[in-house]
Amino acid sequence: MLLGTATGQWRTIGLRLLATNMHATSNGPSPKRSLGLADVVALESSIASVDGTRGELVIRGYAIDDLARETSFEEVAYLLWHGALPGRRELRELCEYLRAERTLSPMVLDVLRLTPEDASPMAAVRTSVSALAHFDAEADDMSREANYRKAIRLTARIPTVIAAFDRIRKGKEPIAPSNAGSTAENFLYMLTGKEPGPSAKQALDAALVLHTEHGLNASTFTARVIGATLADIYSAITGAIGALKGPLHGGANIKVMQMLLEIDRSRDDPSEYVRKRLAAGERIMGFGHRVYRTIDPRAKVLRSMLEALGEEHDNHTWATYCDHLVKTMASEKGIAPNVDFYSAPVYYLLGIDPDLYTPLFVMSRITGWTAHLLEQWTNNRLIRPRASYIGPHNLRVPPITTRSGLIA
Ligand code: CMC
Repeated sequence: MLLGTATGQWRTIGLRLLATNMHATSNGPSPKRSLGLADVVALESSIASVDGTRGELVIRGYAIDDLARETSFEEVAYLLWHGALPGRRELRELCEYLRAERTLSPMVLDVLRLTPEDASPMAAVRTSVSALAHFDAEADDMSREANYRKAIRLTARIPTVIAAFDRIRKGKEPIAPSNAGSTAENFLYMLTGKEPGPSAKQALDAALVLHTEHGLNASTFTARVIGATLADIYSAITGAIGALKGPLHGGANIKVMQMLLEIDRSRDDPSEYVRKRLAAGERIMGFGHRVYRTIDPRAKVLRSMLEALGEEHDNHTWATYCDHLVKTMASEKGIAPNVDFYSAPVYYLLGIDPDLYTPLFVMSRITGWTAHLLEQWTNNRLIRPRASYIGPHNLRVPPITTRSGLIA
């Protein structure tokens, strides 16, 4: 018999199933299955709590909408890494540290110049983060202090990588990072060469806060699985970026914008568009979630940001399309939007190219990933689940001359 928790989840810390979680078969005790690890508790964490029924995300005790309204990205980064919000002095020191670490080594810029200009920006970020390790003397230093410094360096340099790649692929020179301003402000400056206005800065900053952390999602889990082998932080983050790239995870925000643009170009009725796609057995990107059974709380905040930006730009097209899609998905499938649904049109109104939306997710989630790695390494345990083997048994190896092979 399995031991359930109050929330009906199965506790399998380090993914080693407790003896009580096993039942005997002819091949010995076999663990209970949970395909896709749905509802399995793999580890304990004091970083974030996601309540899928109530639609709540709480980071280190603070509700996400409160953080988005009241704090900056840098304050949340501090909160994630240290477990408490910074005071004025701590925040000033962190911001100074981040600004001082923004510049890329010329060799990493060379890597970006060698990257094909039609490469996906997520692939460029993944390769560059891996390359950053070669120019970090502390790359393999596993002390907590060195790992914290590397978390700051990665958070400082990833925006520079994204902006530099975007400019290089457009035939422009990368713009050196500013040694002033917030992460959001400096990123928009490096992308365009112009100082962003207050509302663009503020909107991007809030979007970064919203994407910082979300419990044991696929990319964070990936980072922790790699970190739990005691591999270095760059390896863990490179893997996490790979996991985030997929369209069922962070890659969905790019697909959402492609869908909205397609609806706009084809002048299709948005509700009809959704019905046709569903009838064809397709998924609608930006909807559904493994944990939330109601609207994602981050989507709610982004929906109001979309409205405010729409007012400012006198462009209500995207909010209108979104409303139609949400209504149709609710009536056809009973599925609510997630964070990727509204972040896409918000970034579009900020003038950012759609294929940079998942890299923007990286730029923010690097803080959550690194907080999880720091937590993992305080009390490390290898993460090693098992597969339920469904292949044959007891075969004997025949001589190669008698094997027919797979190609007839
Ligand atoms: N459009 C249409 N149908 C959907 C969708 C969707 N977006 N999402 C789930 N379903 C259906 C699915 O077809 C299945 O139906 P049925 O039982 O009839 O086969 C049912 O809902 C359950 O789907 P599932 O794949 O078992 O559910 P899951 O918990 O594994 O999926 C998900 C979660 C996020 C992968 C899925 O909802 C999805 O593919 N969404 C679209 C991609 C997306 O927006 N991803 C971003 C996720 S949130 C932010 C992030 O992590 O980056």
